[in-house]
Amino acid sequence: MFEILKDKQILLGVCGGIAIYKVCEVVRLLTKAGACVKVIMTNSAQKFISPMVFSTLSGQRTYTEEDFFKVEEGKIFHIELAKSGEVVLILPATASFISKLASGQASELLLATLLATKAPVYLFPSMNVSMWENPLVQENLKKLKSFGYLIYEPSEGDLACGEVGKGRLPEPSEIVEVVKAHFKEKSLKGKKVLITGGPTKEPLDEVRFITNASSGKMAYFLSKEGYYRGAEVHLIWSISETLENFPKLNYFSEIPFPKIYKVSTTKEMLEVCLKIFPECDIAIFSAAPCDFRPKIPYPGKLKKTEKLIVEFEVTEDISKTLSQIKKPHQITVGFALDEPSKLENYALSKKEEKKFDFIVANPLSTPGKDFSDFIIYKPTKEREEFKNFSKEFLASHLLDLITLEIFRRGASC
Ligand SMILES: Cc1cc2nc3c(=O)[nH]c(=O)nc-3n(C[C@H](O)[C@H](O)[C@H](O)COP(=O)(O)O)c2cc1C
Repeated sequence: MFEILKDKQILLGVCGGIAIYKVCEVVRLLTKAGACVKVIMTNSAQKFISPMVFSTLSGQRTYTEEDFFKVEEGKIFHIELAKSGEVVLILPATASFISKLASGQASELLLATLLATKAPVYLFPSMNVSMWENPLVQENLKKLKSFGYLIYEPSEGDLACGEVGKGRLPEPSEIVEVVKAHFKEKSLKGKKVLITGGPTKEPLDEVRFITNASSGKMAYFLSKEGYYRGAEVHLIWSISETLENFPKLNYFSEIPFPKIYKVSTTKEMLEVCLKIFPECDIAIFSAAPCDFRPKIPYPGKLKKTEKLIVEFEVTEDISKTLSQIKKPHQITVGFALDEPSKLENYALSKKEEKKFDFIVANPLSTPGKDFSDFIIYKPTKEREEFKNFSKEFLASHLLDLITLEIFRRGASC
């Protein structure tokens, strides 16, 4: 089973901030995802919560100040811990801890471990808004940033002290996404990726429309995976979701946050695609545009008493239209949905007709589901089959295949 965090060694420093309650959930989620999480607590952190909580959630020993001056089997803890983590997270990073770290102190187990580690260190500050805005805190963070510490800014909202403002520790799921993104190679850095997603809607009258069962989940995961690999993602879809739980990678890198274009009809989706596609390196057509629409939408609202005769017409074919202006360096990916007995023929003829480099064939039950069967037909005419795999896995695997294809083309030039 695919899992980016499986067996990853994560060192988690916990300080004495009120947002410590969220850290329990972070440890639980990381551990559930297969990571090995070792927690080091400051003395103040232990005034908020017992080390036993983290030991239980992580299934690992939790380290405290008591361990600092202990040597077991000739091992010095802060040096051993510093070497053991592939990545270090400090959450919540208190104003006090930030200050001590910025001045290079090694007077506590966690501080000494940080000075000794060569692993990337992510700090998640969390505090009262006035503390956050204090120039001393900001200067310390600036200094830490200049030395390569990765600062993930707090979010805005209700604070534990009753005030409202910047200072909240991000939600645990967002913190876990930062860690997932960390472990993805930035293999698509500098590439522009167009992704279409979700169903389109075609008006029947002024308040009703016809649509289909597509959920946009595939496009969601593709956008996330493209973003984590450093690509400039343009997501064109009909869904209202804002991608708020995507980590803000721009806090410590040049990776732009995915740009969303909200559209409704197939015609609107095509119009936006036509503007973006020419400059793209990769286009993935995972939307389910309606193939037909009422020819003349009824003005006003249709009444039950009226005779219902609706004439349909075929809508624009987005990927076919774009295939006519496709440049040789562009990689395109399509999706084919049909009954199992017809699926292969349909997918292969669609791949050829629309000049797709890859096509993913999936059964009629796929829309809206988290898991499905998939067959990927590649540019080399090979195929890969997956039974009951997640859309998150498919998104990650497709982007790996696209990366390889870019490399293959580069190598053969
Ligand atoms: C109830 C309570 C909540 C606190 N919450 C925070 C906080 O959210 N952020 C912060 O920077 N300090 C907070 N503090 C202050 C820290 O606990 C204090 O500065 C402590 O010395 C930090 O130690 P540490 O950084 O070594 O864990 C809080 C203190 C109390 C009593």
